[in-house]
Amino acid sequence: MAATNGPAFEQPASFAFDADSEAELATIVARYPAGKQASAVIPALYIVQKQMKRDTGSAWVPLKGMDAVGARLGMPPIRVYEVATFYFMFNMKPIGKFHLQVCTTTPCWLRGSDAVTAACQHATGIKNFGETSADGIFTMTEVECLGACVNAPILQVDDDFYEDMDAGKVEALLAALRRGERPPAGSMTGRQTSAPEGGPTTLLFAPEA
Ligand code: FES
Repeated sequence: MAATNGPAFEQPASFAFDADSEAELATIVARYPAGKQASAVIPALYIVQKQMKRDTGSAWVPLKGMDAVGARLGMPPIRVYEVATFYFMFNMKPIGKFHLQVCTTTPCWLRGSDAVTAACQHATGIKNFGETSADGIFTMTEVECLGACVNAPILQVDDDFYEDMDAGKVEALLAALRRGERPPAGSMTGRQTSAPEGGPTTLLFAPEA
């Protein structure tokens, strides 16, 4: 199965916040004092991206979505573009149904991120970071430290962290996603939060009275 850089796409001719987005936006904008609504630009861009996922199955931020954010927050469009293109979490073009984000920073690399990447490639047909599988189901992206090094290596799928991954666990996870299942996120070895492998080693007994 050959992977692609994603199908050719067109920018939508318009974007309007739907009822769910309007409700979310109202809650967020109300957090800021009058005249400071521009501070809501990042959550507002997330709202656009989530609405695109609901509407099209692909989480991305089109130009008209950025323009809608600018109009709503009283910002020139260029200031919204600057923010959206600076932060890696906003997708500037359509992506696959599932966004596989492989952390390859040193702690994850030392703990096997190369094997995680190879398993993603094997299971999806994707050859390089930034590509989308030919079936449009997966996009694979390389990301820097996700702040969960203690349970490295990490594979982030959309907003969920799958931790303590290895090749077999990646293959099983992607197969489950293809079947329409969504396995619970967290440690794949069952460790409790960020406790040591094998369970807690300290504070095992209540102090004597
Ligand atoms: S290095 Fe991967 S989560 Fe920190």
